[in-house]
Amino acid sequence: MGCGWWVQRRCRWAPSPSSSSHSFHWKLAFLTLVLWGAEAAGGSSSSSSKDHPQCDVFQGSWVPDPSYPLYDPSACPFIEREFACLRNGRPDAAFSKYRWQPLAGCSLSRFDGRNFLERMRGKTIMFVGDSLSRNQWQSLTCMLHSAVPDAKYNITRQDDVSTFAFPDYGVKVMLDRTVYLVDVVREPIGRVLKLDSIQGGKLWMGIDQLIFNTWHWWNRRGPTQPWDYIQEGKQIYKDMDRMVAFEKALTTWGRWVDANIDPAKSKVFFQGISPSHYNGSQWGEPSAKSCVGQTQPIGGSTYPGGLPPALSVLKGVLSKIKKPVTLLDITNLSLLRKDGHPSTYGLGGRTGMDCSHWCLAGVPDTWNEILYNLIL
Ligand SMILES: *[C@@H]1O[C@H](CO)[C@@H](O)[C@H](O)[C@H]1NC(C)=O
Ligand SMILES: *[C@@H]1O[C@H](CO)[C@@H](O)[C@H](O)[C@H]1NC(C)=O
Ligand SMILES: *[C@@H]1O[C@H](CO)[C@@H](O)[C@H](O)[C@H]1NC(C)=O
Repeated sequence: MGCGWWVQRRCRWAPSPSSSSHSFHWKLAFLTLVLWGAEAAGGSSSSSSKDHPQCDVFQGSWVPDPSYPLYDPSACPFIEREFACLRNGRPDAAFSKYRWQPLAGCSLSRFDGRNFLERMRGKTIMFVGDSLSRNQWQSLTCMLHSAVPDAKYNITRQDDVSTFAFPDYGVKVMLDRTVYLVDVVREPIGRVLKLDSIQGGKLWMGIDQLIFNTWHWWNRRGPTQPWDYIQEGKQIYKDMDRMVAFEKALTTWGRWVDANIDPAKSKVFFQGISPSHYNGSQWGEPSAKSCVGQTQPIGGSTYPGGLPPALSVLKGVLSKIKKPVTLLDITNLSLLRKDGHPSTYGLGGRTGMDCSHWCLAGVPDTWNEILYNLIL
């Protein structure tokens, strides 16, 4: 079976320097000792994983915490207008003052940007995907810059790749914008979305930490759909079931991972499906036609509307990849954050309605805080 996504958290759990995680390891060691003792005393040898403490950092709830957000967004000069909700006039700031609290038996270390940079010294981290990747990339650059406000930084862009560098640490935080992961190629018949071609992968070789994502563009139709045909093998289609196309493209990406990733050098993550909030029926407020005016998360751990179907497709594909890939399973926790989107305080301003992206400071900071706990 190997290290499929569902066992990743046990297989690849990396110790972090915090006291909370020490206590986790201590408990693990204690339990192992107890089991070993039982065996030595003639007990049955059932030290199976189900006896070990389970720590699933992706299950939990949001709790108000005045020590958040992790940075003052007005002190992050390069934050894009699209995510700068407070600067765009959003009147309530409570949405940025929540901390993700995993279920009992499990805790997260608070993000420490200086520690992150020290541990990542000389390394490169790259987000690959659509604007939700850009959302997470911006969040991480703000989290790091605010931790070392006097350290030099440098933002450069070449074609679709943006690089945020901290020269003193040799750390690069990169973003490769590629909305489908697979290729879109201009040909005589028009723009062709190639489900089994992933030339863009050349840019991902040898990167230390890779965080992929694709989903939101798969349902685009009309003038903003950036392709005219879909190709698989030699077959050209005018269109196909978008969920099927999504699955085929993810499978191509999984084959790329298996063929190109050296697990000793690179860690691979997939950002889960980042949810949108356009339909209040999903959270028990049928009169809400969007996320506008939402100022509080949903309490508890369960989103009434359930999980988006794309997530099970994603999990199915990840389970077939042989190399270790960790699902950064942010879907469940982000579903609860109907209050976290820009609504009319995003790129479109008062005439726009963005319930897909996330305000910064905000929800993606938590994705990065979890990533930090998984990486270090
Ligand atoms: C900025 O970063 C690029 C690489 O990302 C590097 O080539 C360049 O020298 C840097 N510039 C400064 C002023 O540090
Ligand atoms: C909103 O969600 C409800 C419940 O899932 C569904 O019945 C309805 O069709 C949705 N409305 C829209 C406009 O998608
Ligand atoms: C989140 O995960 C928990 C545990 O798997 C589940 O019980 C809950 O329904 C999920 N929340 C959703 C789908 O909103």
